[in-house]
This record gives sequence, structure tokens and C-alpha cells, in this order.
Amino acid sequence: MSKKIVVLAGDGIGSEIVAQAVKVLDCLNQDFDLNVEMEHGLVGGSAYDETGSPLPEATLTLAKESDAVLLGAVGGYKWESLDIAVRPEKGLLGLRSELELFANLRPAILYPQLAHASTLKEDVVSGLDIMIVRELTGGIYFGQPRGIRTLDNNEKQGFNTFIYKESEIERIAHVAFETAMKRDKRLCSVDKANVLECTELWRAVMIRVSKEYPEIELSHMYVDNAAMQLVRAPKQFDVMVTTNMFGDILSDCAAMLTGSIGMLPSASMDKNQKGMYEPIHGSAPYIAGQDMANPLATILSVAMMLRYSLGSEELAVKVEKAVETALNQNLRTADIYTDGDIKVGTEGMGDAVVAALKA
Ligand code: IPM
Ligand code: MG
Repeated sequence: MSKKIVVLAGDGIGSEIVAQAVKVLDCLNQDFDLNVEMEHGLVGGSAYDETGSPLPEATLTLAKESDAVLLGAVGGYKWESLDIAVRPEKGLLGLRSELELFANLRPAILYPQLAHASTLKEDVVSGLDIMIVRELTGGIYFGQPRGIRTLDNNEKQGFNTFIYKESEIERIAHVAFETAMKRDKRLCSVDKANVLECTELWRAVMIRVSKEYPEIELSHMYVDNAAMQLVRAPKQFDVMVTTNMFGDILSDCAAMLTGSIGMLPSASMDKNQKGMYEPIHGSAPYIAGQDMANPLATILSVAMMLRYSLGSEELAVKVEKAVETALNQNLRTADIYTDGDIKVGTEGMGDAVVAALKA
């Protein structure tokens, strides 16, 4: 039976990088019996321009009816002055919350071919393989009340709410422990339990859930220290689990360890393994339309989709190997280019991955 994927290119470089991922899916359909149908929809600023909403009803319906969603990126200067309720980012956040994609997996893997492209010393990052498990539908991103209010003295006050229920912490804890079970069985929970009650509870629930996973070595780290440790000695980590906002910040930090944020895919899953797959980078409007963006994070997101939502570990590995082949051919987009490499554009990199698949 064929599976249905919704493709949401979004804004900025979104359409260029997603086009490469679609080429990969087309190739898998034609040559490797992957049986997926793709439909395209609008999200983000481009959706706002056309429909007045960053997440049109039609897109949400398509996404709900699909087996998986492939997303490019949203946002751009053009929409920065819009009311926060209709900004492109709301389209993405709306998808995450409407589809209940509470578990965000963000692997940070250093390809040996790129060890010298990292801004950190090679021996600090070589062999790096971290999985960040970020809670994605709760915390301060979604907590109520929120807003900007005017006080009696006419001064404005902005406020957000950092809030987690035990059940929300429990379900992300289980994903993190299960993830660690398939890896090196070490889990570091990142919080700010010395200052914030919300994460005091987070820590207590992590400890409680850990009793069900006696094989896992659970540790705890305050988020400020975790940020420091990520750049000081990142290889100490196997799986990290953390709140929505801490995970947003730490995953960008971890991305740079791997040479470029242009390399990192992500999966956002609900409780039934339905998922949305997207590169962790943004829409990079300053390079949009110039055939410069690195499509590998999006292509690697397709690999994650194959693995987690389409049930094909075999094709997932094929795609990952094809990416490695392109890197082994010294092909590099601008973000991972160093002297002596062969510079290619977005299209060129996509073509190289497809060629490697077909070889
Ligand atoms: C991410 C992004 C998003 C986030 C933005 C675009 C809303 O930074 O996926 O990491 O903050 O979650
Ligand atoms: Mg982010």
C-alpha cells in the first residue's frame, strides 16, 4: 500500500533544499520500490502571503491525513514585523502542537570527512555522535498565560510561562530512555533545577522513570554547564533529554560541533511514530534563490523519515550512505567548503546524492 507524504517547502531556502529531498524520494520510488505519494502544501510566510494564515486549514488537514510530513524551513525578514500570532514560525509551532509531535530527535553526528570543517579542534569533535531529545509541544514555547501587558504606570511588561505537567515529562522521558537503550545506554537530562521549580519537577520525573530502565546510566546537568560541556568535551554525551527551549538552544550549539548546521536533520514524532521531518536550520533568506544552501540536512531528514515513519531501515541506510559517498567525492556546499574541496551548489549536491543512490 502506498504511503502519503506531505511536502511543505516553506520560505527562504526551503523550496531549494526540499526539491533535492524530493529528487531523492523520486529516485527511491522509481528504483527501489519505495511506494510513497507526495502532496505539496503551504506553510509559513509564503502561506501567509497567499492565504492570510501561516498554517492554512488545508495544510493542517493534509498533514493530519498523511503518514509523514517533510518540511523545509519557515521565516524571513519580510514577515518579521507581523503580529506574532501570524508570523511564519507560528505555522511550524502550530503543526508541532496540532499533530502532537512532542518528541524531537536531533542527532549531531560528525562525518569524518568534515572533521576539519568544525570550528572546534579536530580531536575534540572527531567521532562525535550525540542524540538530543527535545520536548517539543510544551514548556515556555506554549505555556499560558503569555503576552505583553501594560502596567498601571503605563510601562509594558512581557511575560511567558514555563510549565510542564508530569505526564508531559513522563512521555518524553520514555522516548529518551528508549533511545538510549538502542545506543550507548547513557542519558543526560538537562535542566535548571537549582533555580526553576518547573525543572525541579522535570528532574524528579526523570529519576522516577529511570527505575523502569535499570540498564541506563542517568545523569543530570544544569543547562548552563551543559552548554559549556558541549563545546569543552562533547564526546562525553550519548543521549541528552531536555525541555523545549533548552533543546532549541543546545541543538544549535551541538550543530556547530559537526561543522555546519546545514548537515543536521531532525524528526518530530507523535506517540504513534507519525512524524514531521525537517532540517534543524532555518530559512536563511540571505542566501535564498542563489543555489548555495546545503540540502544534506533535508536529505538526511528523509533518511530519518524512512527509518521512523515509513518502516524502511534499509532505505534509510542507503540514503545515509549516498550522502557519505557525495562527501567522499569531496563535494561541498559553501557552508562546509574548505580549501581543496570541490564546491557545488544546492542542485549539484542533490544530483550527487541521487547519482550515488543509483550507482
Ligand atoms: C527550531 C527553530 C524553531 C524553534 C523556530 C523556527 C520556531 O529554531 O526548530 O529549532 O524555535 O523551535
Ligand atoms: Mg532552533
